[in-house]
Amino acid sequence: MNYTQEVYKEKILALKSRLSVTVVAHFYQRDEVFEMGDIVGDSLELAKKAMADDKAFVVFCGVGFMGQSLKILSPEKRVVMPKIACCAMAKMINGLYYDQSIQKLEDAGIKSEDILPITYINSDAAVKARVGKMGGMVCTSANAQMIITKALAEGKKILFVPDRCLGQNIANMMGLKSCVIGDGSDPKESDIICYDGFCSVHQLFSVEDIAFYRNKYPGILIAVHPECDPAICDRADFVGSTSQLINYIQALPADQKVAVGTEFNMVNRLRPANTYILSSTKPECPTMNETTLEDLYLTLKAIDEGAPINEIFVDEDTAYWAKIALERMMAL
Ligand code: 13P
Ligand code: SF4
Repeated sequence: MNYTQEVYKEKILALKSRLSVTVVAHFYQRDEVFEMGDIVGDSLELAKKAMADDKAFVVFCGVGFMGQSLKILSPEKRVVMPKIACCAMAKMINGLYYDQSIQKLEDAGIKSEDILPITYINSDAAVKARVGKMGGMVCTSANAQMIITKALAEGKKILFVPDRCLGQNIANMMGLKSCVIGDGSDPKESDIICYDGFCSVHQLFSVEDIAFYRNKYPGILIAVHPECDPAICDRADFVGSTSQLINYIQALPADQKVAVGTEFNMVNRLRPANTYILSSTKPECPTMNETTLEDLYLTLKAIDEGAPINEIFVDEDTAYWAKIALERMMAL
């Protein structure tokens, strides 16, 4: 099958009007896939809006942990993904690595009952389940600071997985002490102990890129996602999650230049002019970009034929504990 984009779009729209389906698309999806979304947003918005949806199938155009989180929160829904593409950062931690991290902290003299774990939503259900079992919760980049503030009130050490940059950036913003497991420092001396994971896409932005833009366009603003390295966030004018970046940039006067440090599909859609990508290397999330119009069409066609493909399932025990961790976030 090899139709043009226009033909795929027509076929997708026809199937969508006939079937009980909602197409959900993250802001980082390719433009043509994003256009087909009935619900679009960042990871938190997608989870919330898709939970409230009443169609039989949710067709989730995003990365694996997003479809999985929706299935955990709304087990009655049938969630399918045109591509079950796995976020590279989420892949950096699994249940075993999580258990080993807890062991390392215990070896360093921190009792497990004194640890409150928080996992970024960019993680597998097995990690969320372990966090839920230990009394912890999930966060997204949109609510990480609020979740950490609530967690600190319990007077425990925060173990933040898997994104060391998000953990360190929040710690810096809140004037807290942080470390990364294995960096040689004593974790007992830190408020937030981070796992050593990161997003390879958001590591592309450098201090030199910021200097280049500030030099080329005096007065330009630098706006970045908190998955960027702390050295980048410290030098930026604005640090925010996907939806916070959108709101900030779209509210700027039309002639205000801004260089943005996040995924390119989203940046290109933000504003007609005066918006630059803060890197000479294209910040393309390979897994977000995997989903094509053809994949979406084939997924809808399979539902129409009564044989859905790429359906998301989570085993009962994992789903039970992961849901607790997700719901603690939702409740806040
Ligand atoms: P958001 O939570 O902002 O949607 O981000 C998800 C993500 O993967 C960013 O790289
Ligand atoms: Fe994962 Fe980074 Fe892609 Fe976001 S941009 S989905 S964190 S690999």
